[in-house]
Amino acid sequence: MSESRPAAVLILAAGEGKRMKSRTPKVLHSLCGLSMLGHVLATAGELDPERLVVVVGHGREQVGAEAGKVRPRALVVVQEEQLGTGHAVRTVTEALGVLHGTVLVTYADMPLLRARTLRELAGLHRAAGNAVTVLTAVGDPAGYGRIVRDADGRFLRIVEERDASPAELALDEYNSGCYAFDGALLADAIKRVTTDNKQNQEYLTDVVEILRGDGYPIGSMPAADAAEIQGVNDRVQLAAARRALNDRILEHWMRAGVTIVDPRTTWVDVTVTIGQDAEIGPQVQLEGRTAIASGARVGPGCVLQDTAVGEDAMVLNAVCRQAEIGPGATVGPFAYLRPGAKVERNAHVGTFVEVKNSVIGAGAKVPHLTYVGDAHIGERANIGAGTIFANYDGVAKHRTTVGPDAFIGSDTVLVAPLTVGDGAYTAAGSAITDDVPPGALGIARGRQHNSEGWAERNRRGTRSAQAAIRARSQAQRAREDGPPESSE
Ligand code: UD1
Ligand code: CA
Repeated sequence: MSESRPAAVLILAAGEGKRMKSRTPKVLHSLCGLSMLGHVLATAGELDPERLVVVVGHGREQVGAEAGKVRPRALVVVQEEQLGTGHAVRTVTEALGVLHGTVLVTYADMPLLRARTLRELAGLHRAAGNAVTVLTAVGDPAGYGRIVRDADGRFLRIVEERDASPAELALDEYNSGCYAFDGALLADAIKRVTTDNKQNQEYLTDVVEILRGDGYPIGSMPAADAAEIQGVNDRVQLAAARRALNDRILEHWMRAGVTIVDPRTTWVDVTVTIGQDAEIGPQVQLEGRTAIASGARVGPGCVLQDTAVGEDAMVLNAVCRQAEIGPGATVGPFAYLRPGAKVERNAHVGTFVEVKNSVIGAGAKVPHLTYVGDAHIGERANIGAGTIFANYDGVAKHRTTVGPDAFIGSDTVLVAPLTVGDGAYTAAGSAITDDVPPGALGIARGRQHNSEGWAERNRRGTRSAQAAIRARSQAQRAREDGPPESSE
């Protein structure tokens, strides 16, 4: 179907959103990785309108900046005082002049709206030759403006809940807050909207009755999916919208061949990508630019932000931010990858391991209780339990290099700047402060000395002393009895 570009999409985002009870402007509250305004802008942008306009007012710097970030070509129009949705549109027509053609208007507090629905609305509007076409829904109308029709079902007007009579309140068809207008007729009618209502505001919804009064055809289109036009006015509705959008995202990935074990506890941002046959376990949050490759297994219990997970990798009970996990690598349980952590192919980062700004080379292992900061670990190197890469001297951060096939003994402290050569070893419990040449064993610890009979002398009568006496007399008897006889 060929379709003409809409002349404009206007997104109204100037209101404070009092019902959110927030310091943040309502439309900047986010769900699934993007602000409400961001979702609506992205959706409107898909129609490629000649002009994409955002009306800002309350918190204009922040809201305008968000608009510019999501859609740099969006035009931002300031509504100085928020005198109603009609006033917001009038501000635009006064600022930009008459917009000829189809003008779509939508509110920034409808993050679930689909581009497909906007397109259908514009298409139906043009085909019918309407002056205005309103997207409506049928269901629980609480909080919405009601669609008033005559006995023959002809659309008459929209009445706001606060201005509605008891009979009107009982109507179950309501206004979504999304409209297609003839731009020239809108520019004219918007000037005639009054503030004669309970809120003393200029209602955009009054344009419907004005245009009908002028004798123009007006129409409505029922939304195929009422969930799509949920307006978000408070945090309860925000949570409901987030859940609905998340369900939509998960359904998309499941239909694309991703296994999601527990959709109720899996949260995925719109910006995330997931490959075929990946498996996402319970209680997983995938955020930002996270990309999961095909066949990878993530979860249970992971939070991944802006993290790439390679093919067939496994990530279990881990928090990862701006990290890269190579194909076949395994991370967790209970690992923390911080920005700049790069776990290469088939490497392993295990339990209670924290990695920051470091490369773990292909096939290398950091299995337990380790901090790796500002380091490069070579291929196949093995880092023993309890190793600390001491990268910070209180003033500056320094780097450590561990060569391929090196072996770091348990409980080693590697004091940077430092290089441990290829195939080198460090003895368990060492504090390594000097470079270890390739193939050398670095030992840096005190030698052990045993003070014989210490417990009997200094802990007389204690269980320790008694145990020592027993052990010594057993050893004595064993020596007197000679070597034990063979059982055969
Ligand atoms: C509005 C509709 C109502 C509809 C509902 C759908 C009107 C008069 N009422 O009511 O019929 O059922 O949406 O969700 O339009 N805004 C401005 N400038 C203003 C006032 C509002 O830009 O001066 C923006 C707000 O930021 C918001 C949007 O317009 O994004 C809607 O405003 P809101 O106050 O939420 O309208 P509702 O009472 O929900
Ligand atoms: Ca609203």
